[in-house]
Formats: sequence, structure tokens, C-alpha cells
Amino acid sequence: MPTVSYLERRSELETYFDRTAAEAWSRLTSDAPLGRIRATVREGRDRMRRTLLSWLPPDLRGTRLLDAGCGTGLLAIDAARRGASVLAIDLSPTLIALARTRAAKRIGSGQVEFRVGDMLDPALGDFDCIVAMDSLIHYRAPDMVKVLGFLAPRAKFGVLFTFAPRTLPLAAMHMIGRAFPRKDRAPSIEPVAAARLRDLIATEPTLAAYREGRSQRIVNGFYTSQAMELIAA
Ligand SMILES: C[S@@+](CC[C@H](N)C(=O)[O-])C[C@H]1O[C@@H](n2cnc3c(N)ncnc32)[C@H](O)[C@@H]1O
Repeated sequence: MPTVSYLERRSELETYFDRTAAEAWSRLTSDAPLGRIRATVREGRDRMRRTLLSWLPPDLRGTRLLDAGCGTGLLAIDAARRGASVLAIDLSPTLIALARTRAAKRIGSGQVEFRVGDMLDPALGDFDCIVAMDSLIHYRAPDMVKVLGFLAPRAKFGVLFTFAPRTLPLAAMHMIGRAFPRKDRAPSIEPVAAARLRDLIATEPTLAAYREGRSQRIVNGFYTSQAMELIAA
């Protein structure tokens, strides 16, 4: 499946999350004090994580879950606490090392299997559920949908993912972001209108057997993201 644009973006993201932003991500996903703007992002992300977790059955014992693009492992740790057998994968060795240390402190080592790599590695196997929180938002919409087309058949009960909904305030923020010099910028988020995403999903051959389930937009200060569930039709 990997297209040239997917591979290019993946390589930028690996460098960005592993080096440029590793410290910032460590802080954002901890209890450390934050400035006002980032605090709204942390709060929004906490709400998003709670939303995605609330869409899973309360008792996850006997369930195999993939946290696809796990970052510092917050969602993986919460899912493991509820009994899931979790494989958590991320491109960044630095974030995976941090996630391992945090998980060991919070729930004991070995409760989550953390791996460095690409979520599209076929060797990861099959799951009951796959969750990709804010890990597909940097890919172009057609690539995001191809990724979903690859993941969905590997998840018995469905894929939960988030996308950056193209809204007017977000489009304006995006344009402002583009005015900064390239070296100072994160790999851009790729906003997509929900209607366009639905069209792309409807016309993706590998998703013909899937339909949209729940969907929920979270807007909190500088954080905007929309959760969506893909389930077998
Ligand atoms: C915005 S962070 C979100 C991290 C985590 N899901 C969370 O919500 O805290 C996006 C993460 O996705 C990871 N990522 C992006 N593309 C990936 C891929 N193809 N395979 C594995 N991880 C990926 C990045 O390395 C980064 O850590």
C-alpha cells in the first residue's frame, strides 16, 4: 500500500517526533506545567482519549488491541489497565523508550508490548480493535484512507481513528502556520472535511465491507480533532 507521499511523510514524522518534538511530547503528555495554549491542547487530547476509550467495551480482558502511533503510550496504558492485551507501535524510538518507562511505573513492565516501527507492518498480525489517535492527521486524506483500508481487515471489531476536520478556524490556523519558516514548523496537519473523508472511504475498494459507526468532534482551545469509528457493514 505505501505510496511515495506516505513514505515521504512518514520519514518527516519519524524525524520530527523522534528528535525535534520528543521533549515537547514528553511534557505535553505528562503532568508538568504548560503554557495556556498547550494546556488547552492537553485538555482536548485528554477528552479525545477518554472518548475513544469510552467506545471500547468496559472489560477488555481477552481482547487484543493495537495502539497505532502510540506516542508516549497514554492510551495503551489505559487500555491495558482495563485488561486488554496491547501492542503499541510508534515510529519514534525515543517516544517508545519513554512509553516503556512510564508504563513500567504505572502498570508494571510487560503489560504493554511496545514496538518501534510502522503501523502498516503486516507482521503485527490481527487484532480485535485498532486505535489510531491523532497519528493519521499528518497524512494526506487519500493516504489516510489507504492506511484505513489496510488496517480495517486486521481489526475484528473495527478501527477507531481521528482526523483533523477542515473547518474555517482550522484552515486559518493552517495558513498562518504555513507563513513560518519551514525549519521551525512541524510536518503540517492535513485537515480534511468530514464529507470528503466520507466520500473517500465510500470509494476505497478495500473499505467496501465497512461503514462509519460513531463520530465525535472535540474542540478545546487550540485542539480540534474528530474521532470516527469504522466497523464491518
Ligand atoms: C500526534 S502523535 C499522537 C501520539 C498518540 N497517539 C497520542 O495521542 O498521544 C502522532 C504519533 O504517530 C506516530 N506515527 C505517525 N505515523 C506512523 C506510522 N506510520 N507508524 C507508526 N507510528 C506513526 C508518530 O511517530 C507520533 O508519535
